[in-house]
Amino acid sequence: MSELLQIGAVNERPKPPRAEDLNLRFSDRAVAELEALKTHYPNWKACILPGLWIAQREYGGFLSGEAIAEVAHRLQRSYAEVEGVATFYSMYNTAHVPGKHKIEVCTCLTCQVCGAYPLWEHLKAKLGIGHGETTADGMFTLEEVECLNACDRAPLIQVGDQYIGPLDTAGVDRLLDELRGRSDSTVVQMADVVVQVHLREPERNPT
Ligand code: FES
Repeated sequence: MSELLQIGAVNERPKPPRAEDLNLRFSDRAVAELEALKTHYPNWKACILPGLWIAQREYGGFLSGEAIAEVAHRLQRSYAEVEGVATFYSMYNTAHVPGKHKIEVCTCLTCQVCGAYPLWEHLKAKLGIGHGETTADGMFTLEEVECLNACDRAPLIQVGDQYIGPLDTAGVDRLLDELRGRSDSTVVQMADVVVQVHLREPERNPT
């Protein structure tokens, strides 16, 4: 069985909270953003994708059962429908709580030919983790991903909303040092960037 299949097999989906236990955690800013987004679409179902990005930011980078339930509640959709969307797309973090920084290594054809696997092995050895795993200090999550659609920069790594490449092992070491020095989470930063892209200029950063 591949590494990927094993991960899928051991991660059970969280149970949704009961309606009476729902603890809404969206900030005032998040509520305002969601209300603005609702006006962009003909119905609230169409707002599930950006709503999940807001939730991913508000819940620290992970779409827990509570996070999914809050989106479902605020958009008046069923939990099953919103969970189905969240678990379909790999950019939503539903399988496991990610570290502060998620390092996504493309090992698709062009990156592979240009040296992705030496980078991948270097990262695994340096961090002591494999695909889908997080370092014990919660700093890094490592993921092997398919083509990131920037093959001209192979071998390529994605961290947050940044594409970094072409990279060699020395560049990877510098990247890890840089990420260790950051106070913010690139996983949360990425979610906020996507939310802002969905908003119109006057709707951004509501107070
Ligand atoms: S093969 Fe790596 S970005 Fe396309």
